[in-house]
Amino acid sequence: MAEIAIRNVTKTFHDRARARDILAVDTVNLTIADHDFVCLLGPSGCGKSTLLNMIAGFEKPSTGSIEVGGARVERPGADRGVVFQQPTLMPWLDVADNVAFHLKLKGVRRRGRREQAQSFIDLVGLTGFERHFPSELSGGMNQRVGIARALLMNPRVILMDEPFAALDAQTKMEMQEELVRIWERIRCTIVFVTHSVDEALVLGSRIAVMTRRPGRIRDDFAFDLPRPRDVTSPAFNDAKRRILSLIRDEAATARRAA
Ligand SMILES: Nc1ncnc2c1ncn2[C@@H]1O[C@H](COP(=O)(O)OP(=O)(O)O)[C@@H](O)[C@H]1O
Ligand SMILES: [Mg+2]
Repeated sequence: MAEIAIRNVTKTFHDRARARDILAVDTVNLTIADHDFVCLLGPSGCGKSTLLNMIAGFEKPSTGSIEVGGARVERPGADRGVVFQQPTLMPWLDVADNVAFHLKLKGVRRRGRREQAQSFIDLVGLTGFERHFPSELSGGMNQRVGIARALLMNPRVILMDEPFAALDAQTKMEMQEELVRIWERIRCTIVFVTHSVDEALVLGSRIAVMTRRPGRIRDDFAFDLPRPRDVTSPAFNDAKRRILSLIRDEAATARRAA
């Protein structure tokens, strides 16, 4: 079943200061299967966040439509968990209260909130840090809190916007491995935005390569290399070569057009 169906989606922003329209996303068609782990790969400014924000319901497509689980996306919803580059935690709440934040909004009592939060705190490897505050945690740990918070609502889909981009190389690698482990456990659908070819290849079971702005889908392929993936293996490097050559072609085309 198609979990996410993106049909002929374009997005135009109006740039008021310059009194002109900016075409950010151009005629994107993408169908994402249930349980898939899709990486949207593209250079910065190509429209990745815009596309993700439209799936999340934060932005509306200018034309075309997006469906999640068969229902048209009109606004944000509990069926879609979102993880941002910065985890946007509440600094005055401890880990457990941050993870359970949505439950508080729903009126669930403190004890129930703590209980539900605990299994997700355990899942992301933060057992023992329930009473810590965001300022007492590392960047990687704060990002784990953001992931636990997104998982808590048992969403069908997790939307992740460069969640590990601000982390150091080693923490990033650990978080990538952890995310794959979590995905294998809970089997939700993940759409993961990144500008890193390596990250897309470490994570994705499918990789959609976007062009520069206006963002279009340049290539889209399944990548079923077994996990954990060996980044030095021939299969990994074959796929990397394929993507890099696409990117080079694209850059050359852009230079000729300029
Ligand atoms: N709210 C907005 N108003 C005007 N322009 C925007 C807005 N959001 C994004 N853009 C423009 O749309 C393009 C794509 O942005 P974005 O989706 O953030 O790219 P990416 O996430 O790939 O780096 C950029 O040129 C950006 O300046
Ligand atoms: Mg972005």
